Amino acid sequence: MVSVQKHWERGWLYPLLWLALKAGAESSWQDCSILTVRPPVARPGSGVSASCVLSPACARERGVNAADVAWRLDGEEIPRDQYGSIGSSVSTVTLSALPLAGANLSCHARYGGSDTLLQSREIRVASPPAQPKILSCISIHLANLSCSWDPGPETLLRTSFTLSVTEVMRRCGSKFKDPLECRAAPGARSCPVPAKNLYASYNVTVRAENELGSQTSPVLCLYGMDAVKLSPPRVVSVSAVAGREDCLAVIWDLHYSEIHHASSALYELQYRARGEKLWKQTLIDVREASPVPVRLCDLPAFTEYTFRLRSRYKSDMSHWSEWSNKGEARTPERAPSKEPQLWRRIEPLDSEGERRVTLQWKPLQRHEANGRILGYRVFRQRPGTPEKTELSECSGTTPLASPECSVLLSAERCVLSLSAYSSAGQSPQASIAIPAAGQAALPGLSTLAVSPADDHSLLVQWKPPDRPSVSGFILEWCVLSEREGCVLHWHRLGRHSRDMVISESIEPERLYRVSAYVLDEGEAGDPVSVQAYSRQGAPSRGPSLRPKTTWKTGLQLEWDPIPLDDRRGFIQNCTIFYQSEGGVWDFVVVNGSVHQLRLDGLSSDQEYKLHAVASTDQGGTAGPDIYVQTLRDGTMLLVIPLSALLTLISIIVLLACVQQRQAIKKRFFPTIPDPADSSLANWMPKKIWMDFRDYQDDRCLKTQVDISAPRPGTVQETQSSLNRSECQDPASLGGGVTIPIQTYCTAAILQHCTGDDYVRETPRRSCAEQGSVEYSTVMGIAGGYTQIPQAKLALLPCNPDLRVQTPSQDLFNKTYQSLLYPDMKDPDQGTEEEEEEGSVSTSSLLLEQLMQGRAQNSGL
Ligand SMILES: *[C@@H]1O[C@H](CO)[C@@H](O)[C@H](O)[C@H]1NC(C)=O
Ligand SMILES: *[C@@H]1O[C@H](CO)[C@@H](O)[C@H](O)[C@H]1NC(C)=O
Ligand SMILES: *[C@@H]1O[C@H](CO)[C@@H](O)[C@H](O)[C@H]1NC(C)=O
Ligand SMILES: *[C@@H]1O[C@H](CO)[C@@H](O)[C@H](O)[C@H]1NC(C)=O
Ligand SMILES: *[C@@H]1O[C@H](CO)[C@@H](O)[C@H](O)[C@H]1NC(C)=O
Repeated sequence: MVSVQKHWERGWLYPLLWLALKAGAESSWQDCSILTVRPPVARPGSGVSASCVLSPACARERGVNAADVAWRLDGEEIPRDQYGSIGSSVSTVTLSALPLAGANLSCHARYGGSDTLLQSREIRVASPPAQPKILSCISIHLANLSCSWDPGPETLLRTSFTLSVTEVMRRCGSKFKDPLECRAAPGARSCPVPAKNLYASYNVTVRAENELGSQTSPVLCLYGMDAVKLSPPRVVSVSAVAGREDCLAVIWDLHYSEIHHASSALYELQYRARGEKLWKQTLIDVREASPVPVRLCDLPAFTEYTFRLRSRYKSDMSHWSEWSNKGEARTPERAPSKEPQLWRRIEPLDSEGERRVTLQWKPLQRHEANGRILGYRVFRQRPGTPEKTELSECSGTTPLASPECSVLLSAERCVLSLSAYSSAGQSPQASIAIPAAGQAALPGLSTLAVSPADDHSLLVQWKPPDRPSVSGFILEWCVLSEREGCVLHWHRLGRHSRDMVISESIEPERLYRVSAYVLDEGEAGDPVSVQAYSRQGAPSRGPSLRPKTTWKTGLQLEWDPIPLDDRRGFIQNCTIFYQSEGGVWDFVVVNGSVHQLRLDGLSSDQEYKLHAVASTDQGGTAGPDIYVQTLRDGTMLLVIPLSALLTLISIIVLLACVQQRQAIKKRFFPTIPDPADSSLANWMPKKIWMDFRDYQDDRCLKTQVDISAPRPGTVQETQSSLNRSECQDPASLGGGVTIPIQTYCTAAILQHCTGDDYVRETPRRSCAEQGSVEYSTVMGIAGGYTQIPQAKLALLPCNPDLRVQTPSQDLFNKTYQSLLYPDMKDPDQGTEEEEEEGSVSTSSLLLEQLMQGRAQNSGL
């Protein structure tokens, strides 16, 4: 303790410490002090001193001094009589013996009634060396003997190791020569001694020594040759064995300076075929004085092999030599062992009664070819004859990656066979039957399922037909893409196959068509096809919506199917989002196979923002936003191609000028022609898609209505008596409504309701699921347009329950285009409404159509 105090009294130390502490003066307790232990590593049984120096700033700020410092050893408070202090800011402690395992020392500040940790330090205790252990000895080229050892646990002190090798009389015997010694470099765990006579026995030990003591390892009794690492043997040559095509012989030799008898060592032979990574190996035990050739058999034909050898002195402890040089040789060729996979494409008969048949086949696998394939031979066999004629067109076809050969054949049935040949012989024949032209194909598979195996493969499974004649199956597949054509891949399978994983050119997020054929005695039946993805993704782009029609309370949308290459999965459904200005998003989901939608129940004269999201099982992608404005109250929209509109306008002008001066007078409100006498011009849209199934339940339409025309004047009253928010029963209306109906097809109904809800809002899902009713013409229409203001036109499919009346003969079989819900006005009474521009002009358009129809009828 005295020496420690002296140490700390050295005045120069304080300024340094304070400099170090100043930076953290105002921070945490951790930076408030420095803990120092002397000596840093304790000797067993001797003590240590420690000091905790408080920074003046910290001491001042928190009002603590050396007297407030408490010490703990492994958490236990140290008795105060071991404390000391130097000035008011340094607290010291003296510890006598520490546990051999060491201890954790910490200093704390007594502050605010509790102890706050200032610093903590682990004090470790040095130890004498543990007993080392010799691990192994090695001698290379019969020169130095080098041994390595395990030094045991860390002593925390510098420890030296001395290896001692004593030649003894016999194994573990008495001393024969003075020991040879070497001292390992610091940190090293082995060192060499110049023991040259390895045909002798040695006692080997290693001694570890440090300040605190020394230890010697147990004796390792060693025969010198056990430590020898031989030089590798030499591969002289590898050669074929006469009369054994499947064997190769390795001829090798030794470096005789180290061993004089081949039999005093063990040998290991390794070999591998070209392209293989792993070696196969075999142990060779030699009994002769010099090496005999090693023969390896059962090797595949026409395969290049590499060989190498290593050796080791026959002893449990000896070391393997390095590997020898490599020897290489190839096994001889043999005839191909398997027939090639064969398939065909048959083109239709040409004018000369011949057809082109293209044979396709797969090159044989290496292990099937047994050599270099020089070419192929194709034979034709006519039905009922055993002999086969070789088709010279195909002979000698060079082996390509996907070889094929085209021949012209007559319409009759025949069997084509193919065999491959190499210099060593010919393969078995593969055959395929070409059915007579026009012959009905055999039935195909009843079930074919394709599912993803992984990103780059598809699992194809099928149920084979229950016929003994089935000889195999062909799978064909190709990518379906608008950018690139279908490049067919195919594979032939045996009759017992039930499934196959195809992985040739399969990419994720691309659509594949997989077709399967059954082969009946070599003849292919009808293919069965399935489409599949190995992995689906979200589409790469979303659908672009187009408005087709708008009206006051809704609109009709359509969009194109997403191009094949952009789908990346099966489009399951399409969600159409729409939002009015300042409103919330609403949406409708339709099946992925639907490409149009009627949205109802929208507000009139509103701008809507819309977009569509196409979804696969893996996610959806949105198309661009579009904006559509619904019509104002009292307006209507006609979807008229521009050219037709121009035609129409010119006709109107013509009509106006030439025919009917009163039409001009009445500002395009001519006397309405009797629709019974007219047919609408063919410029009207040919197809309008709508779904009206829901309207069958509409009580307005269900009601039986009479067919008498209302008298002029009554309608006005009727209209004023209507409850605007409710759809009225037409039968309750005094005026009555004219309902011309064509009973066997789509019907037109004039419906006498006001308010915008005359078309009941279609429930969203049903809109998506019901599909659409197509109509292009409506038979029959009200006679007295001009007399029924606010009449609305709707359509519904035939329904016998409706009990509609047969219209008068005049109305029958006249064709009118349907106009979507025109709000019609009586031009004669409509003087006030003429202020409403939209309503007037659109009504006049409708009337003009009727007029035009008449004009055409009258030969214009
Ligand atoms: C000291 O404490 C550390 C951390 O808590 C612990 O890992 C170590 O074993 C302790 N040392 C001794 C000698 O108890
Ligand atoms: C044998 O060991 C000595 C001493 O370490 C060294 O100088 C010499 O090069 C070694 N000889 C061989 C052949 O390794
Ligand atoms: C060699 O080791 C054996 C076995 O430990 C011992 O009996 C013998 O005395 C040793 N010889 C010498 C010379 O140390
Ligand atoms: C979508 O339509 C297709 C064909 O019309 C049908 O097979 C499929 O089941 C429908 N999907 C859903 C989710 O209704
Ligand atoms: C649309 O299809 C996706 C993907 O299959 C599915 O997760 C989602 O539930 C479908 N939505 C509706 C409303 O059917």
